[in-house]
Amino acid sequence: MVRLYPAHPGYNGSNSAGLWEITKLRMELTTSRLVIRPLRKGEGAKIASYFQSNRAFLQPFYPTFKQDDFHPTTWERHIPQIHTDIEWHRAARLCIFQADELIGVANFTNIHGHPRHACTLGYSLTENAQGKGLMVEALEAAVPWVINEFRLHRIEANYMPRNERSGRVLEKIGFQKEGLAKKYLLINGVWEDHILTAFINHDF
Ligand SMILES: CC(C)(COP(=O)(O)OP(=O)(O)OC[C@H]1O[C@@H](n2cnc3c(N)ncnc32)[C@H](O)[C@@H]1OP(=O)(O)O)[C@@H](O)C(=O)NCCC(=O)NCCS
Repeated sequence: MVRLYPAHPGYNGSNSAGLWEITKLRMELTTSRLVIRPLRKGEGAKIASYFQSNRAFLQPFYPTFKQDDFHPTTWERHIPQIHTDIEWHRAARLCIFQADELIGVANFTNIHGHPRHACTLGYSLTENAQGKGLMVEALEAAVPWVINEFRLHRIEANYMPRNERSGRVLEKIGFQKEGLAKKYLLINGVWEDHILTAFINHDF
């Protein structure tokens, strides 16, 4: 279960110093085993390789991959946008590193301001890092950072009923079930039902 206040000790940025501080300080969260931060210039190949090498493992949980998802140049072109999206409070697309290897992603997208103060979370981990509690560890740092940095009241995350493992991750972080949405997302070419969950910041 995440603790929201005071700011997580792994948070090296500043949630009061303004947007440009994030860039200057090279926003980075640290946990005992992980570093969580946006991609940096020159790292397009790392994420292209993450999706390429995990393609078969991740496809059942993702919208159908496009060839572009596996090309370093596509990602390299996205990197300035990833930084701008954080600065302009549109999205925080974060990567999870263990010993310099990119082992996962945690994307906080669709950030809405007043009066919703909410966003959507999606995540994945490389196949050979499964089963070690790493996503819970990453989200225990990232969720409080996102709540504080973007002044959010709610983070929504949704999973297919058969993806019990993902449901358990969310439960451990403190997300609560809110319902079932029929044919909610086009995953791997099929409209899949999803269990809707949310983390509420009761201190907002
Ligand atoms: C979901 C995902 C990120 C979880 O990664 P992880 O950190 O390896 O998760 P863990 O193996 O530590 O499991 C988390 C919890 O689920 C439990 N769990 C594992 N497999 C399970 C299963 N088949 N059914 C129910 N619970 C399960 C674990 O026991 C653990 O709970 P515990 O700590 O109380 O024992 C990872 O499996 C993944 O990348 N999946 C593919 C992409 C995906 O599904 N993304 C989310 C889309 S909503």
